[in-house]
Amino acid sequence: MNVFNKTIATLLPFIPKPILWQFSKKYIAGASMEAAISTTQSLNDARICATLDVLGEDTINREDAHKATQLYHKLLDVIQSSDVDSGVSLKPTQLGLRLDRQYCYGNIGSIVEKAESFGRFVRIDMEDHTCTTETLDIYYLLKKNHQNVGIVVQACLRRTLDDVRRLVSEKGNVRLCKGVYIEPEEIAYCDRQGVRDNFLLLLEELLKGGCYVGIATHDNYLVDGSYKIIRKLGCKNSDYEFQMLLGVTQNLRQSILDKGDRMRVYVPFGEEWRAYCIRRLKENPTVAGYVAKGVFTFRRSGPATRHQGRYNKPDSESD
Ligand code: FDA
Repeated sequence: MNVFNKTIATLLPFIPKPILWQFSKKYIAGASMEAAISTTQSLNDARICATLDVLGEDTINREDAHKATQLYHKLLDVIQSSDVDSGVSLKPTQLGLRLDRQYCYGNIGSIVEKAESFGRFVRIDMEDHTCTTETLDIYYLLKKNHQNVGIVVQACLRRTLDDVRRLVSEKGNVRLCKGVYIEPEEIAYCDRQGVRDNFLLLLEELLKGGCYVGIATHDNYLVDGSYKIIRKLGCKNSDYEFQMLLGVTQNLRQSILDKGDRMRVYVPFGEEWRAYCIRRLKENPTVAGYVAKGVFTFRRSGPATRHQGRYNKPDSESD
């Protein structure tokens, strides 16, 4: 990241909410469940399935973890009643992992059970390396009794090849991604090509071992490399799917769909959109640069108001 973009990334938390929303709305369905369902319906119309994520992480008390669990229950009811093609993705720390592992297991278990009764899939997102072992443990426990649950592994972590070997032996359902968290060099590949090489190595292990894989990347290099592996192993398109984040690399997304492959889009929504956006924008310096331009334009032309219709607020954002 260059110095300019690094500075912008540091300033992101101080950027006014309306401006931040202007540049984030592409990546977030909105604050409400209705907005999330509407986005999912549009994706489904374009032959894309979804996984819905209630934004939030690092819950510090049981009350908030309970609220998040209830929100997921409600979300599953709404997914079911609106009959959209979507599962859910969830973050263990939002559901109490840092408070009590057993409590978190109970919360995720209740969501998995409800999803199972509706024939819906639950993907457990992977957070930073301090959560990896406990998150995998929870997944293995749930997998004993439920088929509708999957896990995520991160190519940036050196331990992941070992994790993948166990997942292969258990025929896990795995989303493979690079990993979004900045991790210490002792435990992680920190160079771009090292992560890419590991990603392709892991993908080959997973597919060879008969795991269903969600190939989660927007990196052209990895999409091409994945197709080479898929062809080499003679995989059927029911052995894998591609996954992308809402609003990212839509041309690449379309080119994969045009090949007849399944595409799933991760649709984040909820009141916690601001924290999520700041993380996403920091991750992508180019977008952070656009935010900066927006701030300067905003200052020159004066604040946009809802009446002028210059920006779309999430439904429940307060003034
Ligand atoms: P790379 O970062 O090289 O991106 C390739 C190109 O895509 C960029 O040049 C840019 O054009 C575009 N792009 C990528 N990210 C963008 C963004 N945020 N905004 C705008 N443009 C962007 N991580 C994790 O640690 N745990 C998890 O559970 C998940 N879950 C997950 C689900 C899904 C469906 C996806 C697609 C990704 C995740 N991730 C994740 C995030 C993942 O680890 C990784 O950080 C991002 O996908 C970016 O890596 P790429 O492979 O896309 O390559």
